[in-house]
Formats: sequence, structure tokens, C-alpha cells
Amino acid sequence: MSKIRVGVNGYGTIGKRIADAVAKMPDMELVGIVKVTPDYGYLVAEQKGIPVYTIKDRIDKFKDKGFKVEGTIEDLLEQIEIIVDATPGGYGFYYKEKYYEKLINKGKLKAIYQGGEKSEVADISFNAYCNAEEALKANSIRIVSCNTTGLLRVICVLNNAFGVEKVRATIIRRAADPKEDKRGPVNSVKLNPPKIPSHHALDVKTVMPNIDIETAAVIVPTTLMHVHSVYMVLKTKVRVDEIIDELSNYNRILVIDAEKTGIDSTAKIVEAARDLLRSRYDIPELIIWKDSIYTRENELWFLQAVHQESIVVPENIDAIRGLARTDGYPDKSIKLTDSVLGIGKFLG
Ligand SMILES: NC(=O)c1ccc[n+]([C@@H]2O[C@H](COP(=O)([O-])OP(=O)(O)OC[C@H]3O[C@@H](n4cnc5c(N)ncnc54)[C@H](OP(=O)(O)O)[C@@H]3O)[C@@H](O)[C@H]2O)c1
Repeated sequence: MSKIRVGVNGYGTIGKRIADAVAKMPDMELVGIVKVTPDYGYLVAEQKGIPVYTIKDRIDKFKDKGFKVEGTIEDLLEQIEIIVDATPGGYGFYYKEKYYEKLINKGKLKAIYQGGEKSEVADISFNAYCNAEEALKANSIRIVSCNTTGLLRVICVLNNAFGVEKVRATIIRRAADPKEDKRGPVNSVKLNPPKIPSHHALDVKTVMPNIDIETAAVIVPTTLMHVHSVYMVLKTKVRVDEIIDELSNYNRILVIDAEKTGIDSTAKIVEAARDLLRSRYDIPELIIWKDSIYTRENELWFLQAVHQESIVVPENIDAIRGLARTDGYPDKSIKLTDSVLGIGKFLG
């Protein structure tokens, strides 16, 4: 069977991870990536054997440095079925209007955007545990942000098992990604924004329109991971062991025992991932601390951690198969993505 031909526009934190994941999938071919800056990222792609494309008015900048590009973004788009846009938030709309839309309308291209775009950019917003089937009717998909992906994974799983009446969550956000040197952790806790709800609740509703959810968010001086304090009211009474049993059915959610393992911080989660030689120390699984899970009657409360750089990668891979209408989607896709990326094997 022919492979799904994929291109990735944007080779930053998210784009380079998606590109590597696509290249690993047995049913996909990474045809090329698009870069606009001729820098070390170009050399990394070249060393990995990934063809690099750029936009027309940047070709000379690459030439000046002796960096060979395969062609323009238009040349790449002609050779692929699916473009994954991982440009900075807001640029996805620009690229959609300038490059993708014409081809999408002709049925020659499908597109995936990231969570920095407004939901109107695509036919649907997506999470594999919530609305994977909707991808089969879409020509474009927006993968919600890292924080929203973390919230949706656990809300959808618990909603299916017990029914979720309402969710209230506080999001403690990392200040910047580790590679960022233009902004940094500042010695402060910043309200983000000062009002409640933060945009995360609205983002969850782009996938679960009827859920009663409100969120608050603050930014703290760390680059490693986000942490969420999640409070839910369920439709039935639950015990802690029932919650743990249910969550253990899902590879993309890992329940970690802080007392047993000593992993009681994001730093230790990251260190364990480094010690396990995980690529880039990525942790695409949502991590829930077992010890934090608290229940009383219908109430549930717990703490979870989100690795912002990698949690959306498996969702992008599944969304590609949804757009390509792959046989056995979504269950076969989720299984294949998890097994190729080694998801669910983190300390357990
Ligand atoms: N970082 C996270 O924690 C995270 C998590 C989940 C979702 N997201 C979302 O994923 C998307 C990408 O974020 P990111 O963190 O990967 O961004 P990033 O690290 O800044 O990378 C963005 C890439 O887009 C490229 N790009 C293409 N056109 C551009 C233009 N006209 N101007 C500037 N750069 C352009 C840049 O290329 P060059 O390298 O050639 O300059 C850069 O590699 C955003 O929607 C974001 O909200 C981010």
C-alpha cells in the first residue's frame, strides 16, 4: 500500500518532533520540511536526510550561506497529500490563505494546524481520545494546545466511564520552552490572564462544546513542564482505585506513584525520561500523580503534568491517518502511533 505523503511547515519545537515522528511511521513518508531561517535547524534536517524547502523570497538567504534547498513551499505542496503546519501561532492562517486553501478546495491537499491558531482555521479541533472519528469527515484539523490536550485526554476518558458534571482547573504554565532565549523565566508568578476563565476552558469547548469547564492560569519560572490542579464533579460516586483502574486502560495517560518512585516534581519526571534515553527526553504521555488523586462522593481532585514540547505529537500522527481515511482508523492508528513512538512504556 502506498505511504501517506506528508510535509511539515515550521521546524521549531513542535514541527521537528512531528517530522521525526512521521519519518518513523511505517505508513507515512516525510517528503520535506519548510524553513524560513537558514540556521542550524537546516543543518540538522540535512544531516537527517530530510529535504528542506523554503518560501520564494528566502531562497537567496539560504544560497548566501551555501545551504541547498529543494525548492519552494509550492513545490513541496504539489508532492504531498497532507501538510502539517507548525508555524508560530497566527501564521497558520496566513499560510492557509496564501498557499493551502486553493489546493484544499481542489481536493489535492488536506491540512493540520496547531493550537496557536484560532479554531476557525480548520474544519474541526481534535483530540484522539475525544473526537477522533470526526477527522474522517474533515479536510482540515486543528490539534488543540498542549494544555488543552492534557485536559481533554483525562476529561474524555473519565466522561466516558463515569460522566463528568463539571471541571474546574488551575493551570500552572511553564514560562518558555528550553530552547527559547528571547524570553525567559522571570522571577515572578504572573497571572495569565488576570481573569477567570482563561482561554483554556474555551479551547476545551472547541472539542467538547457541552462540557461545564472553567480554568484559571498562572505562569511560573520553569521551562520543563506545565502542571494542572484539576477538580471535577462526576455523575456517579467514585473511589480512587476505580479512577486508577480506568486511567490504566489508556497508554497516553500514565499514573505515577510519587511515594514509591520518588518522582514528586517535573524535574524528576524529566530526569527519568533522560535516564531512559527517551528521544529529546520527550514525554508525550499525560502524567497524573497517583498520590494526589482525591475523591469524596462525586468529587475528584488530582494533579497532572504536561510536557508541552511533545504531548501533541501523537495527536498529529493520528490526525494525519484520519485525514488520509486510513483503514481501521482510529483504533488501529492510536495503537500503531503508540507502539512506534514507545508511548506508555514510561516507568511501567
Ligand atoms: N511550544 C509549545 O509548547 C507548543 C505546544 C503545543 C502547541 N504549540 C503550537 O505549535 C505551533 C508552533 O509552535 P512552536 O513552539 O513549535 O514554535 P517555534 O518553536 O517558534 O517554531 C516555529 C517554526 O515556524 C517557522 N516559521 C515558518 N514561517 C514563519 C514565519 N513567517 N515567521 C516566523 N517563523 C516561521 C520557523 O521557522 P525557522 O526555524 O526557519 O525560523 C520555526 O521553525 C504554534 O501554533 C504553537 O501554539 C506549541
